[in-house]
Amino acid sequence: MNETDLRDSVAGLFDRSAETYDAVGVDFFAVFARHLLDDAGLRPGERVLDIGCGRGAVLFPAAERVGPAGSVTGIDLSPGMVERTTRDIRARKLATVTAEVMDAQEPTLPDASFDVVLASAVVFFLPDPLAGLRAWHRLLRPGGRLGVTLFGGNDPRWSGIERVFRPFVPPAMIQAMVNPESPVVSQENFTRALGTAGFTGIASETREHAIRFTGPEQWVDWSLSHGQRAFWEFVPEERRSRVRSEVLGELDRLRAPDGGIVMRQVVRYTVATADSSGR
Ligand SMILES: C[S@@+](CC[C@H](N)C(=O)[O-])C[C@H]1O[C@@H](n2cnc3c(N)ncnc32)[C@H](O)[C@@H]1O
Repeated sequence: MNETDLRDSVAGLFDRSAETYDAVGVDFFAVFARHLLDDAGLRPGERVLDIGCGRGAVLFPAAERVGPAGSVTGIDLSPGMVERTTRDIRARKLATVTAEVMDAQEPTLPDASFDVVLASAVVFFLPDPLAGLRAWHRLLRPGGRLGVTLFGGNDPRWSGIERVFRPFVPPAMIQAMVNPESPVVSQENFTRALGTAGFTGIASETREHAIRFTGPEQWVDWSLSHGQRAFWEFVPEERRSRVRSEVLGELDRLRAPDGGIVMRQVVRYTVATADSSGR
């Protein structure tokens, strides 16, 4: 798939997820946002760029932290996400917060115009993550901070569910996910890519979060509400109800005595500083 097709397919995927994104009662993206904002140490008055802002898991708490003297600009490839988030910004009457449709890899924003750039659960969607990091370095003032979250692997207890989807996943995608050269495949590669893009003072922390689901049905609704929706969409329509039954069966085995399911999600948090060499 070329870069344009990949962008179109990511934008379409999130347009179709936007209605229920982060809205099925599972505490997920907001958890990572809280830690990321703590790590990035946002201060009142700062100008923040939220890359891949989605439905505002980072954007709204960032706006609270920088206050009315600061600003938060959200950008996202998906018009469906941006439209809904803009509606929420207006409903909350946030005069210094905006969301607009823009490609994270080629942002059309002025150089050195932000104190902080944040990207939570986004970098792995970019066709060329290093190009994105270089662009974000350019957008930061010298000494500005970048804060990123990346997923650090799947809960091994989910391997049965992965096995159900695997026959339908395009081989190129499986290869991309395990490509040893990819900047997002390991913290080591990501740290190297940040250095290449001109960042210094790179600090990373890996945290494991317990994500709670009321039961198998909620997990399925949740998996359809964000990027994992792609795995459902790879399954031909006539096979989906069978696959759904198999997935529900696998999930049933993961239930705790109270009927709920707990998934362990490893997240890698990285904060770095834009040095002044302006690479
Ligand atoms: C998993 S969501 C994370 C959203 C938000 N940061 C959060 O924490 O909830 C990934 C978001 O990145 C956006 N995205 C993916 N590729 C992008 C790109 N090239 N440019 C801008 N946004 C992109 C998607 O549309 C989606 O809203």
